[in-house]
Amino acid sequence: MQTFKRLIRYSKPYWLRIVISMTASFGVGGTDAALAWLIEPLMRKIFTEKNLFIFKLLPLAILAIYIFRGICRYLQDYFIRTAGQLAIQDIRNEIYSSNMRLSLRFFHRNPAGILMSRVVNDVGQMQDGVANVVTGLLRDGVTALGLLAVIFYRNWQLAIISLLVIPLTAVPAQKIGRRIKNLSKQSLGRLGDITSILQETFTGIKVIKAFGLAERKTGEFRATNLEYYRFVRKTYKYDAMNAPVMEMIMALGIASVVWFGGKDVLQGQMTPEAFFSFVVAMGMLYSPIKKLLSAYTSVQRSLAAAERVFEIIDEKPDIEDPSEPLTLREAKGEVEFRNVTFRYGDEEVLRNVSLSARKGEVVALVGPSGAGKTTIASLISRFYDVNDGAVLIDGIDVRRLRIDDLMRQIALVDQETILFNDTIANNIRYGKSNATDDEVERAARAAFAHDFILEMPEGYRTNIGDRGVRLSGGQRQRLCIARAILKDAPILLLDEATSALDTESEQMVQQALNNLMSNRTTFVIAHRLSTILHADRIVVLDKGEIVESGRHEALLAKDGLYKKLYDMQFNI
Ligand SMILES: Nc1ncnc2c1ncn2[C@@H]1O[C@H](COP(=O)(O)OP(=O)(O)O)[C@@H](O)[C@H]1O
Ligand SMILES: [Mg+2]
Repeated sequence: MQTFKRLIRYSKPYWLRIVISMTASFGVGGTDAALAWLIEPLMRKIFTEKNLFIFKLLPLAILAIYIFRGICRYLQDYFIRTAGQLAIQDIRNEIYSSNMRLSLRFFHRNPAGILMSRVVNDVGQMQDGVANVVTGLLRDGVTALGLLAVIFYRNWQLAIISLLVIPLTAVPAQKIGRRIKNLSKQSLGRLGDITSILQETFTGIKVIKAFGLAERKTGEFRATNLEYYRFVRKTYKYDAMNAPVMEMIMALGIASVVWFGGKDVLQGQMTPEAFFSFVVAMGMLYSPIKKLLSAYTSVQRSLAAAERVFEIIDEKPDIEDPSEPLTLREAKGEVEFRNVTFRYGDEEVLRNVSLSARKGEVVALVGPSGAGKTTIASLISRFYDVNDGAVLIDGIDVRRLRIDDLMRQIALVDQETILFNDTIANNIRYGKSNATDDEVERAARAAFAHDFILEMPEGYRTNIGDRGVRLSGGQRQRLCIARAILKDAPILLLDEATSALDTESEQMVQQALNNLMSNRTTFVIAHRLSTILHADRIVVLDKGEIVESGRHEALLAKDGLYKKLYDMQFNI
């Protein structure tokens, strides 16, 4: 019920559309009732009293009524559907923006495909329900009321007899509705699995082809698809059961009316015309009631989807702005880790890590893969919160800063070169949204990207990404570096920022990075030790602990892990 109320709340802003549709519903419902009611006087006037004038008028009247009904029906459908669509659009927007507030932990827990499915499929299913409820309640409710009035007016005793069966339908309707709700929830889950496989397949198509996985993946897809069908089949089973069960129960009503009403007519207590009008009205009445009942199952389906959607909307972000944030306009760029311990799950990924970087220093993080280097960078940008200890910027715990303020202090060049489906210029401009073309070009030049950009078909306005020009790994990396250069933040995080570059461009970019690093506190993570020889401090991590730290020469002399890594790198 709570989910239902919440669902209805989304339609509030569109009340005008709903009111128009509702008014039109009265037209539709009213004409149905009017037609049923008219049967009696018409039959009496035309066939019993042989009134030819009314007979001539009749075809025109029928046409007029149906034209009026048609217009009403159009208004009703159009406005209710657009209202439903607008409400759904709001919900979709809300999921998107609430997703944006969630932390990386959430996104690691929920695969992209499954989240996509919630925004697309689940919300879509909600929409069917919402539209059905509102139209159902309006049109069918009003129609039913009108027809009820007719049958009560014709013969109230008979009306009561015919309605006695309606409470009987409530029990199966509720049972079926509950089953459908459960099943649709599960089938939406399976639909999420399907989307998830699709998403993985299309992003990983190269690997699938290269390793000849097409058949295996096809098999997986078929199996998941079948799994989805299994649940859908069950919902169909209950859905299809719905109408026949209701009809059988209602047949009881019709049978009793024919029995009792027929007796009345035979005994002369009711005219055949009135009986006929009654039976037509009742026949017409069962249809909206049946629709109302099936709207009920469609509401259940919609509620199942709504519960899943609200679950995501209500997901509490585990990284949030503090209630009383400290303001930090422009940081000097001092970074300190104070006895930091961190876990993604149960296992400690960082153990009692302490390190500090003064303004303008370059700290290199080295160590075998899985040592925790990327994690350290993630903690500076507060993608995760530490489990113990603290990360401080200019002496302030990052948890006490507004997240926007914190992010303004940090420029990140990640090991994954993420670019968006947009022009080259705009991709660089993600570093600073109000940058002029001139600034963009300067950043591109500094990242040694300017030359290759000019060779692109439309220069800076070339579209890259899914529907655009393909870039090499090194080119992508240089655009990411340009983006960071443009951002011009006091703290710079370079996570294997040169890993995709060839030796030549690496040297160029290294120079760009050297320029960029001056005056900024930089954390650089590099596979290639050559890029960190000149760091102010090299921190060697192993299994989440700092095992050595110092300058290059000193560490070599120590003959520890650094020496080993260095020797491996240069094959000595
Ligand atoms: N999102 C994550 N969820 C769970 N474990 C993770 C996650 N990211 C990294 N890890 C684990 O944390 C450890 C350190 O990872 P990471 O900091 O990426 O290492 P590095 O960058 O030094 O190669 C690894 O054991 C890795 O498996
Ligand atoms: Mg890493």
